[in-house]
Amino acid sequence: MANTCVIGLQWGDEGKGKIIDILAKDYDIIVRYQGGGNAGHTLIIGDEKFIFHLIPSGILHQDKKCVIGNGIVLDPKLFLDEIDGLAKRNINVNGNLFISDRAHVVFPYHKKLDLLLEKQKGNSMIGTTGRGIGPCYTDKISREGIRVAELLQKEHFKEKLKKTVEEKNRIFVNLYDDEPVSWEDIYEEYCAYADKIAPFVCDTVDFMARAFKENKKILFEGAQGALLDVDFGTYPFTTSSNSAAGGVSSGIGVSPKQIHNIIGITKAYTTRVGSGPFPTEVDGEQGEHIRKQGGEFGSTTGRPRRCGWLDAVAIQHSVRISGVDSLIVTKLDVLDDQETIRICTGYKNNEKLYNTFPANIEVLNNCEPIYEEVSGWCEDTSKVRRAEDLPEKARNYIKTIENIVGVKVKMISVGPERSQIISN
Ligand code: GDP
Ligand code: IMO
Ligand code: MG
Repeated sequence: MANTCVIGLQWGDEGKGKIIDILAKDYDIIVRYQGGGNAGHTLIIGDEKFIFHLIPSGILHQDKKCVIGNGIVLDPKLFLDEIDGLAKRNINVNGNLFISDRAHVVFPYHKKLDLLLEKQKGNSMIGTTGRGIGPCYTDKISREGIRVAELLQKEHFKEKLKKTVEEKNRIFVNLYDDEPVSWEDIYEEYCAYADKIAPFVCDTVDFMARAFKENKKILFEGAQGALLDVDFGTYPFTTSSNSAAGGVSSGIGVSPKQIHNIIGITKAYTTRVGSGPFPTEVDGEQGEHIRKQGGEFGSTTGRPRRCGWLDAVAIQHSVRISGVDSLIVTKLDVLDDQETIRICTGYKNNEKLYNTFPANIEVLNNCEPIYEEVSGWCEDTSKVRRAEDLPEKARNYIKTIENIVGVKVKMISVGPERSQIISN
């Protein structure tokens, strides 16, 4: 019995959605435990494309249960829109989708504050997704948030919302010279959401405890990537939750002892959306080429993703903080036409050498990558389905990653489609 956690090792968008969909067949329950509508997990099945923000990427397997844990910040409108989108495609979620009553709720004032905070930062903006994630987690930590449990108790919710909105309006009006929001409008809108989400809400602590008792197999689906983790990422250019494996336990309420296997996903190169340090970023034509080949535009915001070479120093950092047992390399096909491929094995900053990931953003911003070069394979890998059929140079690239990072690559993805996967 091995409960498995799948996390991104970079700055998100590693292909977690695709991998969760593939692995889900071997599990009973798929759990999202942190993040919120900032996530965008894409699944391509034949001609169909699905992008999930809140609903676990196992939902297309109709015989599985999917759980949204307490560590999530839930935007009920987004959640209901996702369900409607699935219903239109004849995918039924009733009876197999559950939301924790302890999850915090995202309100319009969180999104407004997210945008105002960004505007105020000017050039040093984080480049958030604008989904209200930071302000919602801020309210959670400062114990001012409203959880699903409170949302469902209308009288209590009314009082709490009124007080909270009064407080937020003081900030909007006095600090930002901006328009106030109406608690009555929000109340009306959210009461309607509450009625619709109520059938999905449950005590997920009890749900998970029973699942463990019945020896169910659990797949934990990370959002974002370890380098966006609020503790271990490129702070303050991170998200506001623990996207490394540490987030699982507190984000769903299970013992760390229940997580038996940790899989880390990395692209064959690196991308990042939004601001912040990115030592191996490639500007100009070459960066543009990788973006085009990889279709590197955000699944949530449509923003172009910044592209660059694989950063093994950063990956090693992510592997360490999460105790990653095996790797999955995605988007190998995107490098099919590169004659030479570079991997960063260290940084240089003012003659000082680094082989670990610096905490200081200024240091990281001024780090020059030290590269190891390997020959590209210049062949189409997208139709390959067996590791032994990969071009020798592609296998060599995978071996090089394994040797530098010190963790075995268990699967290789060579295209967005569900079937484009190779066991290694
Ligand atoms: P996630 O947030 O980690 O689930 O990743 P996203 O869905 O945001 O971004 C990954 C993008 O790459 C999506 O458009 C996927 O369809 C696509 N993708 C996933 N794996 C591969 C792959 O191996 N090759 C190519 N070319 N595209 C892939
Ligand atoms: P998935 O799960 C890529 C980035 C944003 C921004 C920073 C903070 O699809 O991999 P936030 O809205 O969280 O306050 O934004 O984090 N970010 C992501 N980048 N993939 C994601 O999720 C992301 N979620 C947040 O671009 O730089
Ligand atoms: Mg994504």
